[in-house]
Amino acid sequence: MLYTNSIITGTGSYIPTEIVTNPDFSQNKFYDLNSIPFDISHDEISEKFVAITGISERRYVTRDLHASDIATIAARKAIEDAAIDPEELDQIIVAHDFGDVTKGTIQTDTLPSLSARVKHNLGIVNPKCVAYDLIFGCPGWIQGMIHADSFIKNGIAKKCLVIGTETLSRVIDIHDRDSMIYSDGAGATIIEAREENRQRGILSFATESYTKEEAFYLYLGKSNSPDADPYIRYIKMFGRKIYEFSLKYVPGVIKECLEKASLDIHDVHKILIHQANEKMDQEIVKRLFRLYGIREVPKEIMPLSIQKLGNNSVATVPTLLDLVIKEEFQGHTIKDGDIILFASVGAGMNINAVAYRY
Ligand SMILES: CC(C)(COP(=O)(O)OP(=O)(O)OC[C@H]1O[C@@H](n2cnc3c(N)ncnc32)[C@H](O)[C@@H]1OP(=O)(O)O)[C@@H](O)C(=O)NCCC(=O)NCCS
Repeated sequence: MLYTNSIITGTGSYIPTEIVTNPDFSQNKFYDLNSIPFDISHDEISEKFVAITGISERRYVTRDLHASDIATIAARKAIEDAAIDPEELDQIIVAHDFGDVTKGTIQTDTLPSLSARVKHNLGIVNPKCVAYDLIFGCPGWIQGMIHADSFIKNGIAKKCLVIGTETLSRVIDIHDRDSMIYSDGAGATIIEAREENRQRGILSFATESYTKEEAFYLYLGKSNSPDADPYIRYIKMFGRKIYEFSLKYVPGVIKECLEKASLDIHDVHKILIHQANEKMDQEIVKRLFRLYGIREVPKEIMPLSIQKLGNNSVATVPTLLDLVIKEEFQGHTIKDGDIILFASVGAGMNINAVAYRY
């Protein structure tokens, strides 16, 4: 029997060059949501921040770069890695949240779309190469992979470029402690159709959207500073609610994904989960294992980049994949036959997971 498999044949990423440490935020005056200044020192805020998120550093792009530029850099690397002719691409899917934002403007620019800009930057002229953007919060890159897989399995596409790119440093409120969570980056993958006599590549996926009060857990809102212009809006979130929501629902979506592929948790070699918060990710995976009656999470199953790269939304998972595949991440490796789980949660609120056999 022949299977149409969706196979990742190339990966690439762009890790911005500007390293921003927690002490770098000590110049920023932090206020709570009611514009009341915190009466504790920056050192205390920073200590608590590391304890609850695990983040000690993050990366920002330099002034000259936008989300579409770093997407293009990551895409070029993925194309080179896959050794394909970019003119043969059928789909370019770019996941992001805010489009291109020029430093200092807090203005989203999605005209033209980032995918159109990336296709232009890559010099692709083939009109049959369809370029579109995907707004799905942090799970956007995984959702793009699900789109690509669906196109491939339905015979609509043979080669797709899926990118997650974001410059959250351009939309943060510097007077909000949560601004320390966010960062910039881009990750890209080439995913291709292969007719093979064993099933591999994307085996299954699961997705859920919760849009009652959850729709506004992440939103654009005014600065916490009492002196700021109330009409200028920044990324804001109800972090504790997101935390609780994620622990409640994400493990179930991952389990559903595994079941669709008739896999057990013991089959899983690595879990590449959205890097939102170290403590939260560890708790999600712990609860996932508990669903299978297992109390000990295997060491090394979950690579974590959040400590040094922060949360760059759609870019966290493809960047981590690129680093692990190229054996550039803390000794983590993936070999042929390994089952990898991709999972994410974010604005929408959306949750998704993909099971993949290398
Ligand atoms: C925002 C978040 C870091 C807050 O952590 P938390 O453990 O839920 O924090 P709580 O609101 O319960 O507050 C616990 C303590 O940390 C402090 N705190 C909260 N946010 C903080 C921050 N960003 N920096 C420093 N301290 C913070 C609180 O003041 C409180 O201090 P106290 O114990 O002295 O009273 C966490 O909820 C989170 O990461 N949520 C998920 C966010 C997410 O995934 N967002 C993006 C989706 S892609």
